[in-house]
Amino acid sequence: MTPTLPTFRRSDKVWTKTAERPLRSTGKAVAAWCMAHFLGVPVPWAAVRQASGTELLAFEHERLQQLAQAGEQVPAVLAFDGRRLSLGDVGPTVDECLQRLPAAEHLALMCAVSADLARFHARGHWHGGAQIRNITWDGEHFARLDFEERLFPAMPLHACQIYDVLQLVMSLARWVLPLGAPAVLAVLDAYEAQDPALDLRGFLRHLLPRLQRVSRLATWVPRYDRSKELLRLRLLIEGMQAFVRRSPG
Ligand SMILES: Nc1ncnc2c1ncn2[C@@H]1O[C@H](COP(=O)(O)OP(=O)(O)O)[C@@H](O)[C@H]1O
Ligand SMILES: [Mg+2]
Repeated sequence: MTPTLPTFRRSDKVWTKTAERPLRSTGKAVAAWCMAHFLGVPVPWAAVRQASGTELLAFEHERLQQLAQAGEQVPAVLAFDGRRLSLGDVGPTVDECLQRLPAAEHLALMCAVSADLARFHARGHWHGGAQIRNITWDGEHFARLDFEERLFPAMPLHACQIYDVLQLVMSLARWVLPLGAPAVLAVLDAYEAQDPALDLRGFLRHLLPRLQRVSRLATWVPRYDRSKELLRLRLLIEGMQAFVRRSPG
């Protein structure tokens, strides 16, 4: 018997973000900056250091308006007074959808979200937080959330887009683990098919030796070597290697 697939849709819920929300601590900002630079993404310090909740909210509001005007799928702004930003619901996040879907449906959703990010990029946009907890699926469209990261124009557009792809792929690591490296390759292929202009292959070629070094270092510490994080990292490495080795097209 085929299990019935869950239906995904938007609800009437209103999501409110306030200027009083806790800001990233200096320690977390340093860690985020170091991680991005290690990955080869030159994120500006001013963007990772979250100095003011009011500024973050105003920036998010501005980006939501710009993207909506450009015809992109983002939550509708229901109200904004400088301290509170109320948004319409755009459906469950891709993370929630993957939790609710049977495993046999996972790869198709992961490739679809990757292809959708690529089309968004090909239209000249960047997300700045493209993890699957910040992308929703309402059964018809993917939509993007959470536009607090002030990366552009301090960081060039192509670097913002590369960072989006890395964040998407890393956020999928938990879900590709049972499927193996071919699933990582499929997700990267799905991206490339829709946005061949972004030099993802060239970027990954430089990134891979760094990731491999981390993976090798971990073999010295049995506790890390057998951790889920390392298993996921090694799977991503394997999938990225397969992608880089193959010539495009
Ligand atoms: N408009 C929305 N539609 C659907 N879910 C939302 C919406 N806004 C927020 N969410 C949910 O709330 C979570 C946190 O919101 P987000 O804007 O990403 O804030 P944060 O900056 O705290 O990450 C999201 O991961 C998503 O689960
Ligand atoms: Mg978020």
